[in-house]
Amino acid sequence: MATGLNRRTALSAAAAVAGVGAPLLAGCGSDDSTATDAGSSAPSSSAPAETPAAGGAESTGGDVFAKTADVPVGGCAVYSDAKVVVTQPTEGDFRCFSAVCTHQGCLVSSGSEGVIPCNCHSSQFSLEDGAPQAGPASAPLEAVEIVVDGDDIALA
Ligand code: FES
Repeated sequence: MATGLNRRTALSAAAAVAGVGAPLLAGCGSDDSTATDAGSSAPSSSAPAETPAAGGAESTGGDVFAKTADVPVGGCAVYSDAKVVVTQPTEGDFRCFSAVCTHQGCLVSSGSEGVIPCNCHSSQFSLEDGAPQAGPASAPLEAVEIVVDGDDIALA
């Protein structure tokens, strides 16, 4: 029975620590299906130097940080390095927002439940415009411009 108390105490301590570290962990909401990010050493080097796209003198220039296939239809994928969340409200329609929750600054999480969830205090944001839909957050996530080129997603 003492073990129960010890375990409870340990869990409380862990929760306290997690409370402090939660923003970072939540950002890694990329418990990754998407995550080449969290992987070991930098697979992001898969784009060694941008190949000059046919047709595009437009060096809108951002690095490719995501693949369309990583973003579920009706869901979102968080890219913690860029601190953005990419959504796909309907097939082929990609949008991007700051992943920093407007409530208290945690990074929102990836999900496929029709909203952008923030696991810190259960806020939820619209996949379409980042507007708050539930929870304590009252301001929308800031929109971020992206360029979708084939299956690559880059910051604009
Ligand atoms: S920081 Fe996102 S709900 Fe509180």
